[in-house]
Amino acid sequence: MDDSWPIIGRTLEARRDLLGMLQRQERRFGPVYQQRVPSMRLVTALSADANELVLRNKDDVLSSRLGWTRFIDHVFPGAIMGMDGDQHRRQRRIMQAAFRTAALKDYVARMSPLLVARVATWRGRQRSAYALLKRLTLDVATDVFVRPGQAARAGHGPLNRAFVDAVEASIAILRYDVWPLPYARGVRGAAYLQRHFRALLPDKRREPGDDLFSQLALARDEDGEAFTDEEVVHHLAFLMMAAHDTSTSTLTTLVYLLGKHPEHQARLRAEALALGDAPPEFAALEGMTTLERAISEALRLYPPLPLMPRVVVKPFALHGYRFDPGTLVAVSPLFTHYDERLWLNPYRFDPDRFAPARAEHQRHRYQWVPFGGGPHRCIGSRFAMLEIKAILHQLLRRFRWSLPARYEMPYQLMPIAKPRDGLPIEFTAV
Ligand code: HEM
Repeated sequence: MDDSWPIIGRTLEARRDLLGMLQRQERRFGPVYQQRVPSMRLVTALSADANELVLRNKDDVLSSRLGWTRFIDHVFPGAIMGMDGDQHRRQRRIMQAAFRTAALKDYVARMSPLLVARVATWRGRQRSAYALLKRLTLDVATDVFVRPGQAARAGHGPLNRAFVDAVEASIAILRYDVWPLPYARGVRGAAYLQRHFRALLPDKRREPGDDLFSQLALARDEDGEAFTDEEVVHHLAFLMMAAHDTSTSTLTTLVYLLGKHPEHQARLRAEALALGDAPPEFAALEGMTTLERAISEALRLYPPLPLMPRVVVKPFALHGYRFDPGTLVAVSPLFTHYDERLWLNPYRFDPDRFAPARAEHQRHRYQWVPFGGGPHRCIGSRFAMLEIKAILHQLLRRFRWSLPARYEMPYQLMPIAKPRDGLPIEFTAV
């Protein structure tokens, strides 16, 4: 039992050095440790077995709704991550229609011209790789999910600000709707998102296109059930956030890692150049296995979501301890991604650990969980891989970049991982 009060003690420590803190706690207390929080018990579970038990959630013993809604309900109400059991299964089935292979092929075809044109403008010294990538992934999400062909004119200042504020508010410690507290800014950002998408919905219902927004408006499960207007708007706001923030985080990490490891960058560039000038289509992107390993390794070292919360709703046992309903349980991809019992030299950037000959990630099905697992496993993981590959492919073909050996990217892990300095970089033409 760790006796600190996480709200004032470990919360601040966790924001500064989450991995170090989890490793120290695990050495002291073992794979499960408990802390005091007002009105509940907080248990952190640090093992691949715990990831499996908690995320698979056999017999619905844990609630994602109770785990997530405390963080996101005020800014992303009605998000699918905040649903459980039958409601979650039903909504997920309908949403799945927007992620089937035919739809993904179409999204890839649609995003290519935008990526090619945008990346071409990135030559030279850039103050923030993160800002460039965030703007691009938000434009891709707008173009592919909301308004085809509109990304360039969408006036993204307010939309981007609204997403940033809403995400920051998810971990606000002071939860008062008092301007200019981050919480209050987040609540206003969330209201802006709802208004923005709701205003577009009647057109989507009247004249659906093949964008994800229309797919959500049209989608029906096998019993013919569709989403209500409110559900469509809530799902879209959450999907847009989930889609561009996590992909931006991963792309920034890759720019950093490949800048620190020129040998990997050169190898990936040679493969990208060998594929010819035309932007790769769906099948070519799916076939980029070397690039996929680099992405998997970046997701291992810097999982955009370092912790996932659930709340016990039926008595639940883990590593020999029993937990009562009401206990908040957190599992950590970050911890298992650096566990020396599972990975060789876990601090090293070594994409080939994912190659079939080594397959280090297959020692335990739940040791590598950047996309989570079980019923709430990321619905957009395949889209994310396609988008990240398509953007990196363009970057690698056009530019070289490097970072000083001494430079270590200063990193903020929560609520979504990103560099504190934006990652300044210079892109030089190949
Ligand atoms: C590298 C990119 C991404 C990462 C690392 C990531 C990570 C995750 C994780 C860890 C979860 C599970 C959370 C939990 O179980 O508590 C999740 C769920 C989810 N993700 Fe992603 N995600 C990514 C990209 C995307 C994209 C591109 C989309 C949409 C296009 C998306 C949509 C969602 C949705 C809707 C859920 C909730 C699913 C459910 O509750 O059934 N994600 N994501």
